[in-house]
Amino acid sequence: ELGQYRHYMQKEIFEQPVALANTLEMLGTARSIQPGLFGAKTEELLSDVRQVLIVACGTSYHAGLVARYWLEGIAGVPCNVEVASEYRYRDSVSDPQTLVVTLSQSGETADTLAALQHAKSLGMTRTLCICNVPESSLVRENALRFITRAGPEIGVASTKAFTTQLAALYLLTLIFAKLRGRLSPEVEAAELQALRHLPVAVGKVLALEPAIQTWSEDFAMKQDALFLGRGRHYPIALEGALKLKEITYIHAEAYPAGELKHGPLALVDKDMPVIAVAPNDALLEKLKSNLQEVRARGGELYVFADADSEMPASEGVHVMRLPEHYGQLSALLHVIPLQLLAYHVALVRGTDVDKPRNLAKSVTVE
Ligand code: M6R
Repeated sequence: ELGQYRHYMQKEIFEQPVALANTLEMLGTARSIQPGLFGAKTEELLSDVRQVLIVACGTSYHAGLVARYWLEGIAGVPCNVEVASEYRYRDSVSDPQTLVVTLSQSGETADTLAALQHAKSLGMTRTLCICNVPESSLVRENALRFITRAGPEIGVASTKAFTTQLAALYLLTLIFAKLRGRLSPEVEAAELQALRHLPVAVGKVLALEPAIQTWSEDFAMKQDALFLGRGRHYPIALEGALKLKEITYIHAEAYPAGELKHGPLALVDKDMPVIAVAPNDALLEKLKSNLQEVRARGGELYVFADADSEMPASEGVHVMRLPEHYGQLSALLHVIPLQLLAYHVALVRGTDVDKPRNLAKSVTVE
């Protein structure tokens, strides 16, 4: 079943082009998006939504954090993202004109299910779930649904479920933007084309595996690692740190790079590798000055740039370039080298990649 791969995680990382192509298959060659993608009542339920509330756990939560940048930046919809286990026990202010979005690979995560019940008990009945398992408990509980077609995900570390969730969340963003008159026909056609290009774009990023494997040797002996990103790439830094923690047991933290000087900079020395997610976006110049602060303290930098980022390598600054610049979708592409990095560090350390200690694939208890 594993074919040419050593582990399910590696197989699932490499299945991402197909998983995305399947998830986006219904777009065909269309130049405009059909709101019905999320269910027959999509337009009716979304048209007067005032805000979006995303609840999820773990990697799915990170997908929600990326989506907030898209929903607010592209569609102009206010968006909050909450960890499901916190939301369900918090006294919050509810608004019936909220779209509650639950994200889950398995659709069986107890905290996410309970958070949805909690939101409904507060009178929020416009519900959408983005889920990878059509017959799961979560799917049955929602008015609207979008099934990602990543296929079964067996490795405990979630990979292809994350990127397909992001593709679905980008579609949701485009639907909101369209309903709010913020999407011209030309831009809409270009956005759909960008989505259709994703499988090819992901394939090109996967070709970086041998170079990432070389970097992984440097990490295997470390105790700690720091991941940095800004804007929509901060959640990608969080996801990179989670992947590393889960399967290599190296302590990793992620920060929005602007926060460094407010505390974590004190941790940086020559033994702390710092991984930066650095595509060419509006915050790249700011990120570069944050990275100089790291270098000045002797921290070794590993930078994932893209074709357009002005980011030269130098002493203690290792730069790997993703082959294209992907605009808004760069978050989806930039997680892939971080998945591969965690995987290869785990191989060097000899950990149980697909079944890391203390973790279960599906967390059906509180
Ligand atoms: O099935 P779900 O997406 O609801 O699962 C949520 C988390 O338990 C899951 O993403 C977890 O964090 C993964 N092990 C991360 O790789």
